[in-house]
Amino acid sequence: MEPAVSIRNLVNAFGTHTLHDNLNLDVMPGEILGIVGGSGTGKSVLMRSMLGLRKPQAGQIRVLGQDVYSAVPGLQQRWGVLFQNGALFSALTVRQNVEFPIALHSDMQAATRREIAQLKVRMTGLPVSALDKYPSELSGGMIKRAALARALALEPDILFLDEPTAGLDPIGATKFDKLVTYLQSSLNLTIVMVTHDMDSLFGICDRVAVLVDKKIVAGALHEIVQSPHPWIQRYFNDPRAIRARQKENKNVRAN
Ligand SMILES: Nc1ncnc2c1ncn2[C@@H]1O[C@H](COP(=O)(O)OP(=O)(O)OP(=O)(O)O)[C@@H](O)[C@H]1O
Ligand SMILES: [Mg+2]
Repeated sequence: MEPAVSIRNLVNAFGTHTLHDNLNLDVMPGEILGIVGGSGTGKSVLMRSMLGLRKPQAGQIRVLGQDVYSAVPGLQQRWGVLFQNGALFSALTVRQNVEFPIALHSDMQAATRREIAQLKVRMTGLPVSALDKYPSELSGGMIKRAALARALALEPDILFLDEPTAGLDPIGATKFDKLVTYLQSSLNLTIVMVTHDMDSLFGICDRVAVLVDKKIVAGALHEIVQSPHPWIQRYFNDPRAIRARQKENKNVRAN
């Protein structure tokens, strides 16, 4: 099976500050891959590289079989993105936000566009009344859902999520996680998710990729937690990680 995303020998540096040094990573179709790593290690930059938004110093990145930096037009429409900070256009309503990529990339009629926007918004669990609201009128959790609706607008194959549950309360975060798994299975998506959220990692990710020492160490969670690497050990033996793992074990037993 060809990886949905394949990164080979990636080098990213800002001046003398090297973030990625011959980094390799494969994301397999249909999986939910969690990316973790210390703050400032370059997770968001890695995501931007996968989107072709930052040309690396060296290396190859293929997404859906194409080189992102010399891809034929149209590749960008096959993924949806939730950026870490910029969520929505603040001057546009939720409906206009979700319609935006559709209007940009298709010649669909306004009425159809409206219908699709409505469908996507409902898919993310937002009430229809949210459609005509501006981002400033929504809660943080609703903004994330609306941004997810926009990311789904073009029916992507891959979703890139950068810390989607950051800033949500635990209940909101759990609901968001459920939404992500639901979308993954119902739409057969591949999901790449940068997260610091232990519950998300243990609850919904199929594999985890740890960005450490400027490289990726990837594997199933049970393999990664056994890694002897000191940072990985510390990270997964943090009391919060242990609690998340115990909770997950309970869930497994309960099912
Ligand atoms: N455009 C840029 N110009 C210069 N330096 C940058 C740029 N973008 C990112 N950096 C630097 O690269 C490093 C990694 O940034 P990045 O945002 O990828 O970290 P991160 O792993 O996502 O952190 P966090 O967990 O806090 O979100 C930081 O030191 C940041 O200052
Ligand atoms: Mg980041």
